[in-house]
Amino acid sequence: MDKFIQGCMKIKNMSVKEVRALIDANLENGVNVFDHADIYGAGECETLFGKALKEVPGLREKIVIQTKCGIVKDLSCHRYDNSTNYILDCVHKSLKRLGVEKIDRLLIHRPDALLSPEEIAKAFDRLQGDGVVDTFGVSNFSSGQIALLKNSLRQKIEYDQVRVSIAHCPMIENGINYNRYNDAGVNRDYGTLEYCRLNKIQIQCYSPYKGINKSFIGDNLHYRTLNKLLKQYAFKYGVEPNAIAAAWLLKHPAGFAVINGTTKPERVAQIVKAKDITLTRSEWYELYKSVGRLLP
Ligand SMILES: NC(=O)c1ccc[n+]([C@@H]2O[C@H](COP(=O)([O-])OP(=O)(O)OC[C@H]3O[C@@H](n4cnc5c(N)ncnc54)[C@H](OP(=O)(O)O)[C@@H]3O)[C@@H](O)[C@H]2O)c1
Repeated sequence: MDKFIQGCMKIKNMSVKEVRALIDANLENGVNVFDHADIYGAGECETLFGKALKEVPGLREKIVIQTKCGIVKDLSCHRYDNSTNYILDCVHKSLKRLGVEKIDRLLIHRPDALLSPEEIAKAFDRLQGDGVVDTFGVSNFSSGQIALLKNSLRQKIEYDQVRVSIAHCPMIENGINYNRYNDAGVNRDYGTLEYCRLNKIQIQCYSPYKGINKSFIGDNLHYRTLNKLLKQYAFKYGVEPNAIAAAWLLKHPAGFAVINGTTKPERVAQIVKAKDITLTRSEWYELYKSVGRLLP
């Protein structure tokens, strides 16, 4: 199971040399999975990454490429499309941009209101049959939506990529507040956390350091108590606050993967130190409560 993944959503304005440095920093720190999507930088992120791969013989074989499709950034109508032809077309364009013969993991980026499981099944069969995709997953899908897909698919859904951080974790909050009339008890998760654990689907946490819109790390205006604790525990464990935020996710027994969106190689080295930290239960709960949450 992955512990860390490097997200490539923000690499668009980097040079090929800088992208290579980011790839190297990840490999040096034991991270070999890179997360893309056809829409990141309108395709530019995959193209840049492909250029970086091409520069170093043998680099492709050392890494796992994950990409996503299904969001249509059409100026005339922003929408979702999980139809067979749309998925097939996206994957072939991604292969071309990345300059590779195979994508290791393909995720459906968001559930389409017009989703037909049979259409996705047809696309997955074709992609697997042609040898251009190895494994499959989803992103932003609820338990019910995964179950619906599962009924028609021959392939296992291996991953669900979902937004989770200390500051944003309805999937954890819901479970603690089950059967309560408070806001946290409103079911926004549909039991997805439990469903994924039961079905051995790894949850990949995206935006692991983000609050409302930007990183909560150092944002004392909106997250003062959280930052105070991150600093305190960082000092105790001899790491940076970002490693504490990652350790909070890694402590969860579901076995989350943390997708780092940083573009800075030095931050990769800081964050991976989280794998050597085991927060105590009281530290974990103090961080959970530090953003204004109450326990029942
Ligand atoms: N499936 C989906 O719908 C979805 C949605 C969003 C993202 N994603 C994936 O998840 C990845 C991560 O998402 P994200 O970029 O929103 O999450 P993130 O890792 O929480 O990134 C937040 C931002 O925090 C900044 N940051 C500031 N101080 C930091 C510190 N001390 N340590 C670490 N980061 C710090 C980083 O900028 P610097 O570059 O300056 O470090 C980064 O831009 C994306 O690249 C993408 O692959 C998926």
